[in-house]
Amino acid sequence: MQTELSKTLGVEHAVFGFTPFPAVAAAISRAGGFGVLGAVRYTAPGDLKRDLDWIEAHVDGKPYGLDVVMPAKKVEGVSEADVEAMIPEGHRQFVRDTLAKYGVPELAEGEASGWRITGWMEQVARTQLDVAFGYPIRLLANALGSPPADVIARAHDQNVLVAALAGSARHAVKHKDAGIDIVVAQGYEAGGHTGEIATMVLTPEVVDAVAPLPVLAAGGIGSGQQAAAALALGAQGVWLGSLWLTCTEADVSAPAVTRKLLAAGSGDTVRSRALTGKPARQLRTEWTDAWDAPDGPGTLPMPLQGLLVAEALTRIQKYEVEPLLGTPVGQIVGRMTGERSVQAVFDDLTRGFEQAVDRINRIAGRSGK
Ligand SMILES: Cc1cc2nc3c(=O)[nH]c(=O)nc-3n(C[C@H](O)[C@H](O)[C@H](O)COP(=O)(O)O)c2cc1C
Repeated sequence: MQTELSKTLGVEHAVFGFTPFPAVAAAISRAGGFGVLGAVRYTAPGDLKRDLDWIEAHVDGKPYGLDVVMPAKKVEGVSEADVEAMIPEGHRQFVRDTLAKYGVPELAEGEASGWRITGWMEQVARTQLDVAFGYPIRLLANALGSPPADVIARAHDQNVLVAALAGSARHAVKHKDAGIDIVVAQGYEAGGHTGEIATMVLTPEVVDAVAPLPVLAAGGIGSGQQAAAALALGAQGVWLGSLWLTCTEADVSAPAVTRKLLAAGSGDTVRSRALTGKPARQLRTEWTDAWDAPDGPGTLPMPLQGLLVAEALTRIQKYEVEPLLGTPVGQIVGRMTGERSVQAVFDDLTRGFEQAVDRINRIAGRSGK
């Protein structure tokens, strides 16, 4: 699975893997793909340094990248306390009532809630970048918009390619105008924050809109056949996030989450604002149902919603309260039916890709295997 872009980056397969787990990122690069570590949870620079050191020691010299979250709308100059003060009491009561209804225990005295608003702030992403530029990363991706001009310039000075996710051709053109190198066209099917256009429609639109920039197709790709379809649509590679969540190398927060992922079908996700205030695809649970119910209080905008539910989600995870327990994941969850190593996933992807290419060759009347 070689394209211009995979050759530029020196990887065997044009398969890019987004993951919050260092062990998965390193395994993706070792298997011949391109591992991208999600940095949003690293609010302490020392933790990111520790994990990048670990990747360096385990990646066998293969290339890898980092994904940061620099929201297009800045929340600078606003403290966490300021944001807390904006949360209406009715919403807080709704959280308390829902947790009480399911008997979710409290955290122990002084136990951290796990999620901080600071992970979404530009200054925190900049601290992450100060750390990351000390490592030989080859790619910097941004989730929620184009990175600022000085960050793009700094990356280019260090021979780091810059990618940005886009859910529409309009956003993709904005990224191109900002000077980025790669657009990740992420369709509606994807896990995490998504737009409203499906990958099948979005990929060729973005390819045409930003040509000759390379485009990676993301959302709903979990097999080599789907990867072949994305390349047929003009993508120079595929960008996968969900499929790695049930890999043996993944450090998923609770065993019950893995069980739910393995049991879920492709219709068991929902695009809901319950997690962060922006639409994000995730497992449908009684928690997302409660937020999306017509008689509920409705969700708050980002970053208020994330702060409102942070402690609740930590409690739900810690005590594995199954009806409420979820995770971001895409519709491809229906194909995630067993735990496998990252290498086994790659073997399957390359086998499926070859089968698809042979099939198309036969249909086109060329010699296939
Ligand atoms: C658990 C999870 C967390 C994610 N977090 C981020 C993130 O922090 N930054 C980002 O750019 N994309 C994030 N994404 C989206 C992925 O980068 C990717 O675009 C998406 O997973 C591709 O679609 P798929 O889920 O169908 O493979 C996340 C996806 C998942 C499943």
